[in-house]
Amino acid sequence: MTHLIDHPLISHELTRLRNPDCPSHEFRQRVRRIASLMVPSVTSDLECRVVECTTPLELTSGTETLRPVVLVPILRAGLGFLDGFLDLMPEAAVAHLGMARNEKTLQPEAYYLKHPAKMAGAELILLDPMLATGGSAAQSVTTLKEAGAKRIRFVSLLAAPEGIATLEEAHPDVPIYTAAIDRCLNEKGYILPGLGDAGDRLFGTF
Ligand code: PRP
Ligand code: URA
Repeated sequence: MTHLIDHPLISHELTRLRNPDCPSHEFRQRVRRIASLMVPSVTSDLECRVVECTTPLELTSGTETLRPVVLVPILRAGLGFLDGFLDLMPEAAVAHLGMARNEKTLQPEAYYLKHPAKMAGAELILLDPMLATGGSAAQSVTTLKEAGAKRIRFVSLLAAPEGIATLEEAHPDVPIYTAAIDRCLNEKGYILPGLGDAGDRLFGTF
């Protein structure tokens, strides 16, 4: 299932981001703010348990999230999303996942994965600003499932309809959250209207 997170502040930031004159330092700040603005929607259905809670005056009850959360940025561009999530979820663990395209098969393959030991009981939030063909996202989910993950949600800034279809078909159990669904891909696999290469724009590697 795909959730479009439609919010005036996100749309405002995204409009500024799309502009090619937005420099990397400003681009990073805007992506970080969008990530934070997306957190409440992305996490609104996390299961909680009731716990005892002591106030200065008496014993009462509160809640805590049932499962540990693991944030998983896909390198590189996913790193741009990470701090905005950590700002609101400072207790989350972080697993890093490196994906690169195999030059022979042209398929994305994981070249690096460092994750907490207990993946089966965790809620994983996979982060990548761009869902284009969907190849990287689908392979990332496969890699995380092979590592034991059972509960995964995917978060993007921009998604192309092609990428949504690919990820939904490969992993129908993984909900997708995105701040915008753009028109289509061009012949080079870039999202249109899009914002260009997110990794290059975040890190100034033009
Ligand atoms: C970008 C983006 C995604 C991928 C999306 O990464 O961050 O990971 O492309 O494309 P897809 O849906 O067609 O797989 P890229 O491979 O450019 O690497 P980078 O983050 O290092 O720039
Ligand atoms: N990756 C990007 O960074 N941008 C796109 O438009 C497509 C894939």
